[in-house]
Amino acid sequence: MFPPFLKKVAAVTGAGSGIGRAIALGLAREGATVHLADRNADGLAETAALIRAEDGRAFTTELDVSSEVQVVGWVEQIGSISGRLDAAFNNAGITGPAKRIEHYPLEDFQRVVAVNLQGVFLGMKHQIPLIKRSGGGSIVNTASVAALTGPGGMSAYAASKHGVQGLTRVVAMENAADGIRVNAIAPGWTETPMVAANSQQNPGFAALTQTAIPAKRGGRPEEIAAAAIWLASDTASYVTGQMLTVDGGMTI
Ligand code: NAI
Repeated sequence: MFPPFLKKVAAVTGAGSGIGRAIALGLAREGATVHLADRNADGLAETAALIRAEDGRAFTTELDVSSEVQVVGWVEQIGSISGRLDAAFNNAGITGPAKRIEHYPLEDFQRVVAVNLQGVFLGMKHQIPLIKRSGGGSIVNTASVAALTGPGGMSAYAASKHGVQGLTRVVAMENAADGIRVNAIAPGWTETPMVAANSQQNPGFAALTQTAIPAKRGGRPEEIAAAAIWLASDTASYVTGQMLTVDGGMTI
């Protein structure tokens, strides 16, 4: 049997770390040429080296997903290098500070929304025409269980992730007839540098999340990536506009 992404071209944002790196590695193992984007040049280079060490094909672009001119340049580059785009993963994200709304600085709110929501908007806005020219394909956006709940102190993060679910539904509706499926994943507590940063801000965080997860453990980035890659694959050919929760039972 051929690898499911053989001769396919994929794009992943936030590919320099955590879940994005696991998605990129998983796609490369399934045969895709992978275009990696992140604002962290060192992280990008590490992910590309991991892929190339397994004889995979990776291209890297340092960018800020909240910048339209940079996203446009990246998608143009994908078109000129690979000539097509079959699967896009809008995954880059940040958490912002943990503060009640009365104390939440506007600039932090705007920064989180710019990366997590505007970044997904800009990604899809510019990926859709190239995917359409490629004859159809799939987009998977990274939301969060915070798209389903209202974790105290996380107003910007939860609002941005609720927004990702809404955007996912709209773009799925707009493009279903053109053979483009658009879905989201909602990871729970996943062991990546993002969570490590939260644990440092709040020492009780790791212990608390352990008691809050029925599976009694955090997720591994590979477990989240597997769900995202399945959603993008042809096996999920009739799934669109959905958000798949991958959280060890946290939101049951
Ligand atoms: P991470 O911090 O390990 O990786 C995020 C990557 O995004 C980093 O490489 C970072 O440089 C990049 N990034 C951040 N802002 C960027 C920008 N403006 N432009 C380009 N790249 C940027 O975090 P993780 O955990 O892998 O997060 C990936 C996604 O998963 C995020 O959207 C996050 O909100 C989401 N998520 C993570 C959960 C977790 O428990 N780790 C839970 C639920 C959702």
